[in-house]
Amino acid sequence: MKQKKVGLYTFGRQKGRRLTSQKQHALETGLAKYGVNLSPNLDPKTVFDSPFNAYVLEIGFGMGERLSEAARRNPNTGFIGAEVFENGIANLCIEVLADELQNIRVFYGNAVELIDSLIPASLDRIDILFPDPWPKKRHHKRRLINIEHLSRFAELLKPQGHIVFATDNEAYAQHVLEITLTNKDFYAQPAILEEACSPPSGWIPTKFEQKPNNHGGRSYYFKLIKTS
Ligand SMILES: C[S@@+](CC[C@H](N)C(=O)[O-])C[C@H]1O[C@@H](n2cnc3c(N)ncnc32)[C@H](O)[C@@H]1O
Repeated sequence: MKQKKVGLYTFGRQKGRRLTSQKQHALETGLAKYGVNLSPNLDPKTVFDSPFNAYVLEIGFGMGERLSEAARRNPNTGFIGAEVFENGIANLCIEVLADELQNIRVFYGNAVELIDSLIPASLDRIDILFPDPWPKKRHHKRRLINIEHLSRFAELLKPQGHIVFATDNEAYAQHVLEITLTNKDFYAQPAILEEACSPPSGWIPTKFEQKPNNHGGRSYYFKLIKTS
């Protein structure tokens, strides 16, 4: 897959197959109604029409099926999804428009720019599910969960807020456990790899998770909980 460089980040496909006219229409209509624009000191509350009990950011929602299902199951939570993959964003827009999901907002762009503009202590949870693992050591800095981003996530989360992190890449899982210990803003639950192999109860599987993969079919699931 050809990688495109965007600042420090490289992503997989931002544009895949040309959008069908239905998807193109949903993308335009959905973003006009539910799109989030970057602005300094952005408060998640202000991007929705009404207040919610909790606010969740999902980074890299892929095709968005899990995000829309989470929104249906949790109508009192406001979800902001960030993605760079056009086809996935269009897919989410179709679902949000069809079900008139008032508790989803969509950011089309680099989530790193979004997290730089959100105000501190504004999120209850950040979901990072099966992010690109960047297996080569020289690419580790491109991982969504790295030491620098962990500090930023800690600022964005409310006290006792947490990150939900899942991966099918054992080395990435181990790396996240190690940097969580170094960083001290979070503790991991579970704290060891061997106990992280089952999804928590009520888990909604992601599209990526359901694909046959090259890692023996094993995935790891963690909660990184803010220490203060
Ligand atoms: C391996 S896919 C997993 C998608 C989805 N979470 C799932 O499990 O089905 C990783 C996704 O993260 C997105 N992504 C990677 N870096 C991103 C960034 N900085 N901002 C927004 N999306 C990003 C990619 O476009 C891709 O769709």
